[in-house]
Amino acid sequence: MRSVSARLPLRFVLLGAGVWAIFCAGLYLWMRQREERLLEKELVGQAQMFHERFVEEIDEVRRGVHASLQDEMESFLRGSGARAEVRRPDGSLVFAPHSSPPDAAGFRVRADTVTDGLGESFVIRVGVSETPHQEALKELRLYLAVFAPIALCLQWLFGAILVRRAISPVEEIRDHAERISRSNVSERVPERFLTGEFKDLAHTFNEMLTRLESAIEDLQNFAADAAHELRTPLANLRAEMETAIQEERSPAEYERILASVSEEVARMNRIVTDLFTLAKIDMRQYALQKERVSLRPLLEEARETWQRAAAERGVEIRLEGQDAEVMGDAVALRRVFMNLVENAVKYNRPGGKVNLSIGRKDSVARVRVQDTGIGIPQEHVPWLFRRFYRVDKARSRESGGAGLGLAICKSFVEAQAGRIEVESAPGTGSVFTVELPAIS
Ligand SMILES: Nc1ncnc2c1ncn2[C@@H]1O[C@H](COP(=O)(O)OP(=O)(O)O)[C@@H](O)[C@H]1O
Ligand SMILES: [Mg+2]
Repeated sequence: MRSVSARLPLRFVLLGAGVWAIFCAGLYLWMRQREERLLEKELVGQAQMFHERFVEEIDEVRRGVHASLQDEMESFLRGSGARAEVRRPDGSLVFAPHSSPPDAAGFRVRADTVTDGLGESFVIRVGVSETPHQEALKELRLYLAVFAPIALCLQWLFGAILVRRAISPVEEIRDHAERISRSNVSERVPERFLTGEFKDLAHTFNEMLTRLESAIEDLQNFAADAAHELRTPLANLRAEMETAIQEERSPAEYERILASVSEEVARMNRIVTDLFTLAKIDMRQYALQKERVSLRPLLEEARETWQRAAAERGVEIRLEGQDAEVMGDAVALRRVFMNLVENAVKYNRPGGKVNLSIGRKDSVARVRVQDTGIGIPQEHVPWLFRRFYRVDKARSRESGGAGLGLAICKSFVEAQAGRIEVESAPGTGSVFTVELPAIS
């Protein structure tokens, strides 16, 4: 029995059986004690009355008022339903009933020594029947034996109905989930009819679908973008080659064509390498090192690399701040800063500035790459780190970018438990901030 709707009522019943057993045992013990008390009370009461009557009678017998003690005591006992017997301390019988003696089976007996008006002692044994009390207990046992199983059955029945009703929304959610596949991933479980935890569950499930949908959409766009991105250099290549084979050309012209071909191949190579890097990070196959890495040398290297390109555009690159050490992969981090500095130079205005700074706050090392470039319009910011995303496609391609740089930055930084953010104002410039866990 694996289903919750079968298991839960059964557990209820098992639990209920435990509770019932404790309850019944408690009730029975309490009843038994109560009957015991009543019996004792009855016995004491009967004994007391008998003693009084006996003492009274024996005095009267002595005075000769009554002929028969036996008759008097018999009739008294008949009225009360008790049994009694009186002996002298030496054991000689004074009074015994015609019926059985008090200590017959099923009788509770009590013996007391009583002294009459003349100072004579008698041992009086009085017995009362235990049967009514035992009957009451027997009835209670019977009652519990019959009704406890009925109560348990009812509990199981109602439990099953309640559980079935309670989890019916789960079945509804499951039915919906079964129907959702790649082709209709935009479908959602209706939340309107659900309440409480099931509404939350459906909501969480729907949110997960939304994330999946966007991931699938990303993947589809990504494939289309990749194909598109490779198509352009391929078309260029083909055109160049066709021109080359159409007619005989001078060596200088062949050289130009080959140079152009080589440039396109290099461009495709970059895209494919970048895609491969991204795929490896996605599949966690990129073996990222975990070693002590100083950030300043990496930024100095990036500055050095882009110094020439910057100088050509009259852009100045400055580096400030103390060094900070992080636990990470030097190669990946070098790549991140290279990309950011490249962008800061590439999307700058002539005569602009690039400020690289390192800072530390508590356990976080923070690198800021600030430029005074063209900036990024607000509506593009949320998409900036997506693969192949470029604000101005023409301009970016002109400078050789395919829009994979920031995607790689984000993947690398996040794979090292860091964060990357951007703040930008069109016309004023952008600030990219990379935060990484620092070593203290
Ligand atoms: N510092 C920056 N200033 C302005 N725009 C930027 C900056 N960095 C990135 N961008 C925009 O983000 C896009 C994506 O950047 P990136 O992923 O590095 O691709 P690429 O540089 O290959 O175009 C760029 O095309 C550009 O439009
Ligand atoms: Mg770039």
